[in-house]
Amino acid sequence: MQRLTNKQIILGITGGIAAYKSAELTRLLKTAGADVRVVMTPSATEFITPLTLQALSGNPVHLHLLDAEAEAGMGHIELAKWADLILIAPCSANFMSRLASGHGDDLLTTICLATDAPICLAPAMNQAMWRDSGTQANVETLKNREIKLFGPGIGEQACGDNGPGRMLEPEKITNLTASQFETFALTGKTVFITAGPTREALDPIRYISNHSSGKMGYALAEAAIEAGAKVKLITGPVTLTPPERATTVAIESANEMLEASLLDLSLCDIFIAAAAVADYRPTAIAEHKIKKGTEEIMELHLVKNPDIVATVASSTPKPFTVGFAAETKDVLEYAKSKLERKNLDMIIANDVSRSDIGFNSDENAVTVITHSGSETLPQTSKRKLASLLIEEIATQYKANR
Ligand code: C5P
Repeated sequence: MQRLTNKQIILGITGGIAAYKSAELTRLLKTAGADVRVVMTPSATEFITPLTLQALSGNPVHLHLLDAEAEAGMGHIELAKWADLILIAPCSANFMSRLASGHGDDLLTTICLATDAPICLAPAMNQAMWRDSGTQANVETLKNREIKLFGPGIGEQACGDNGPGRMLEPEKITNLTASQFETFALTGKTVFITAGPTREALDPIRYISNHSSGKMGYALAEAAIEAGAKVKLITGPVTLTPPERATTVAIESANEMLEASLLDLSLCDIFIAAAAVADYRPTAIAEHKIKKGTEEIMELHLVKNPDIVATVASSTPKPFTVGFAAETKDVLEYAKSKLERKNLDMIIANDVSRSDIGFNSDENAVTVITHSGSETLPQTSKRKLASLLIEEIATQYKANR
């Protein structure tokens, strides 16, 4: 089965006998790694209970549009923004009609109107209803709006008829959902990504480090894999689980990160430096624990660490090299000068003076700068931003070759 690691999926369930299969679908989406929130129409609750879906999804089930308590928690706009993809399975003829006419009179239609996420439908209905010219006209309208249809399958129906209108099996729907995230933008390419902080040892038990969470680098690794790349993730110590399909190299110090970055560098097409590398390290690592002395002030002697991304960018052959510039003021100026100084192909600038984005936060807002121009991307989750950045990196990489 294909993976949906960390993907945020809204599973919309409408009224139809196939709703019993939505329980298995929820379980499979979860097993594939997705975070699932179920939204049910009133008639769906006649076929399967919200409690079943709540237990299987591990999240509260959303039922009503005008529910003050629900809106205070995660309301329809939040849900619409939260979703990476909306999957409606089973999708009844009635719901297809309401979606095609742009209705916004219940929770699920409103979420569909308010979202930027892709919408996929798994139709389920009687074969005559599917063949009906009204339904077929709605299918055309929905397809023209880039709404994807999974199925329906052909075969025996609950009502005894035989023909098109069966909802696809949950496993097939899960795989089709996962395939929506694959872009093929980096198929056959090898991408090295550095992530997280480095630790620079003072003695066997102490070190100098920083607060980098590694979230941006890990999200980029996941997005590069979805784009078809082979990924080597060179990571400092973080609490995140590395993507299953990446080759992960765990390091501690900047020197170790440099060594892992240069190993097999000739195979690397794109190098992305998302790590927060310590600028300096202690001149020497004490063999034993440094004892507390009587003096009030202690001096540490530090030596500059190698610049990993600049070393990579000066190697031959040089991969398409991307750096990050985390700045607290004059963000674009500093980023542009770093692009030149480090001989990078692209730099991603972000303002870390803001507490709502950047370091240790789930969101980020960045400006992408190349030698030919710059583009500011809107503030969004690091996961969504990672997909946009990988798309942009793939475009610039191809333009540069
Ligand atoms: O010079 P500064 O640390 O601001 O540059 C940030 C960029 O350079 C990031 O992409 C970071 O991963 C990379 N870097 C590096 N090695 C260093 C310092 C920074 O690869 N020693």
